[in-house]
Amino acid sequence: MREVRIDPSFESWQSAARSLLREGISPDEVQWNDGSIVQSSLLTLSAPRAVEPVTEYRVPARFVDMARRAATNADPQRWALLYRVLWRIVRENHDLLDVERDIDVARLNELSQPTARPFVPQTQSVDALREAVKECRGCDLYKYATQAVFSRGPQDARVALVGEVPGDQEDLRGAPFVGPAGEVLDRALAEVQLRREDLYVTNAVKHFKFERVGKRRIHKTPAPVEVAACRPWLESELALVRPNIVVCLGATAARSMLGDQFRLMKQHGQWIESRWAPRTMATIHPSAVLRADDPPMQERNYAILRDDLRKVATELLGS
Ligand code: URA
Ligand code: SF4
Repeated sequence: MREVRIDPSFESWQSAARSLLREGISPDEVQWNDGSIVQSSLLTLSAPRAVEPVTEYRVPARFVDMARRAATNADPQRWALLYRVLWRIVRENHDLLDVERDIDVARLNELSQPTARPFVPQTQSVDALREAVKECRGCDLYKYATQAVFSRGPQDARVALVGEVPGDQEDLRGAPFVGPAGEVLDRALAEVQLRREDLYVTNAVKHFKFERVGKRRIHKTPAPVEVAACRPWLESELALVRPNIVVCLGATAARSMLGDQFRLMKQHGQWIESRWAPRTMATIHPSAVLRADDPPMQERNYAILRDDLRKVATELLGS
């Protein structure tokens, strides 16, 4: 056996794994120690058996991506798993990652799911989350956006609004709903006499997702895997705010929070008891007003948004 000491980082594991592979030290012969566990069996370690070394090898880029992601996980077995998969790719089957039923591949798939979890601190303060989100690399969206856009509004707000994802303006200015969709939202809020400053306003996904078309950056709907990756932020912030009322703005937030079965155009404006708040509701997204095909459709969508928000205002007065 050999004890291999590394820092708990992908780079540190990678450089150790390369040497081990070159030396022909098999995964069964390695105990990984990233400093997080106290080894008790050090004295019993004997010299590792080596097999025929490999000098030249190539691994699929996909493995490197997955390993990088899995490395940010907390599972203490991850270094051993990564080395075992690497060894098997090099020695047994270059296409091992395609064998989804393989137990090691299945575990690596699990560990390398995009998630914000390792970046979300244990804290009692939304401000601390707001600070920490700047460093999130839970999914790939941070690579293209200007900055993470976290919530605005008081931690003791009684009402939380959850949008989808920041847009172009939000990405540049670092605050939610400050662009055209925000104007529509503000107009509807004013009409029903809800004050934006009293509300906790956030998004299901914290980094802008877009497509470049000429000079413009056009909003793209985040994929379910990105919504799922970003969810630990939403969970943590709403657990701290504990609003009486949560309003999902649009289908992305509604599906993420109320389930895939939720049908926005059928169920908008209805109060639901959910794990998020005693009173939860979904309504149409302010952008749906802007994107509607013609003025009558815009007017209809705006009326839905305003009338649903009026229920929120009424509920708030009554409670
Ligand atoms: N659309 C959203 O869903 N959120 C924003 O912050 C802006 C536009
Ligand atoms: Fe992290 Fe969410 Fe940004 Fe992805 S979108 S990097 S999970 S904050």
